[in-house]
Amino acid sequence: MDELLAKLQSPDRRLEMDGSELREVLETVLRRLLPHVDSVDTQLAWEPPEAGPSWDSSLPGEPSDWDGVIQELFEDRLYPAYNPASGGYMAYVPGGGLLHSAVADLIASTVNRYVTVWQAAPRLAELEAEVVDWFRQLAGLPDTGGGYLTTGGSLANWSAVVTARSCRLPENFLDGVIYTSDQAHHSVARAARLSGFPAGNVQLVESDSKYRVSLDQLEQRIEEDREAGRSPFMVVGHAGTTNTGAVDDLAGVARICRQHQLWFHVDAAYGGAFLLTERGREILQGIEHADSVTLDPHKGMFLPYGTGCLLVRDRQDLHRAHAVDVDYMPEMQDDPVRVDICQISPELSRECRGLRVWLPVKIHGLETFSNYLDEKLDLAQFAARELRAIPGVEILATPQLSILAFRLAPEGMDADALNELNHKFLDRINGATQRIFLSPTSLDGAFAIRICVIVFRTHLEHVQHCVDVIRRSAAELLAGQ
Ligand SMILES: Cc1ncc(COP(=O)(O)O)c(C=O)c1O
Repeated sequence: MDELLAKLQSPDRRLEMDGSELREVLETVLRRLLPHVDSVDTQLAWEPPEAGPSWDSSLPGEPSDWDGVIQELFEDRLYPAYNPASGGYMAYVPGGGLLHSAVADLIASTVNRYVTVWQAAPRLAELEAEVVDWFRQLAGLPDTGGGYLTTGGSLANWSAVVTARSCRLPENFLDGVIYTSDQAHHSVARAARLSGFPAGNVQLVESDSKYRVSLDQLEQRIEEDREAGRSPFMVVGHAGTTNTGAVDDLAGVARICRQHQLWFHVDAAYGGAFLLTERGREILQGIEHADSVTLDPHKGMFLPYGTGCLLVRDRQDLHRAHAVDVDYMPEMQDDPVRVDICQISPELSRECRGLRVWLPVKIHGLETFSNYLDEKLDLAQFAARELRAIPGVEILATPQLSILAFRLAPEGMDADALNELNHKFLDRINGATQRIFLSPTSLDGAFAIRICVIVFRTHLEHVQHCVDVIRRSAAELLAGQ
């Protein structure tokens, strides 16, 4: 008997789950997952971390049973944690995590199609092109535009810098200078670093009293750098900063970029989704002049983490920056609809990212998202109005979109004492019930507390609870308790 053949005739087939086994496993998982879903909004909005690590360092050579593994996951690994899916989570820039996208992910991973090469799954590759085209239309970019879905805003900003560098600078690009406001998200500086620029090549331009980039300063810096022999090539404007949700004068920045022939990128990771609302479109006017735009559907479109988007005005620019031809790949397309995602992005193999956007949008229609986002704009206005009425509270940044910043500012305290007081204020707010969670930032040196209303589950009752906790905490601190 041929020993090799005998061995191959009885392979280990345990990894090959069939339909009935999958159903059984899903039932085991759902017994844990459904109570989690039903309680997500009544669970704490945050918990402090505990010292770890919690794992057994021996290699898991032997199989384990599903019940035990799922139990470990749900009982020992899910907590402690921040709970950005809960309506009380208004820290940083939360997401929410639509369950429709979780269903889409299950389908996408189960069928496991190869979407980055058009001919390997043409209809699914086109599905992502369709989703990107919805976003292109929302941003008002021309039909020469295109883009692709990234894993988040940081990756989109990085790919934008690489694209701008490839299109606007020579191979030796070290003189190239990028301008952005002093309110920029740190992913812009990191994008520049990862693209090979020295730290000094990112110029942080002063912002005005509303935390929008100063156009005069921007123009002056560009002219000074040109005169000094450097090569200004890119401006990153903001459609909603992380700190305060400030929206730059995008039309003004676009004008400067046109005049000085610079690439105009808009970081709309936080604010871009508000293009779905009338107010948002008004505030974000000028975004349609951008050469590229970062969107982050895992923020304002409430998707689970792992979905960003880079849009460009001219899809050929993405191709120029990313395409590589090799012998072992199938034939690539030259067609705006038949998109080979691997030719316009840094990734090759990856999941079918488009489905997690396409499915919830198809199920609900963009109008539903628009209603939710309108509500978030109103909730931020409501929060600002209520906070203004609290003795001792000072609004540092009124909401331009759905973020605001405030602090406690009793008279007669110097800057250091105020910062110390507001540290305590935030700890007290977050610790009071743990049903709301806010995060700090620094505005002109002042310790500021932010409220960011962007979780789809956040409604009036959450904001009212937040305001109540702030009111109580302020009164206690001012009374010296
Ligand atoms: C304005 C802005 N840009 C970029 C990012 C980075 O996005 P991500 O966390 O998806 O990488 C953020 C994140 O909060 C942001 O607020």
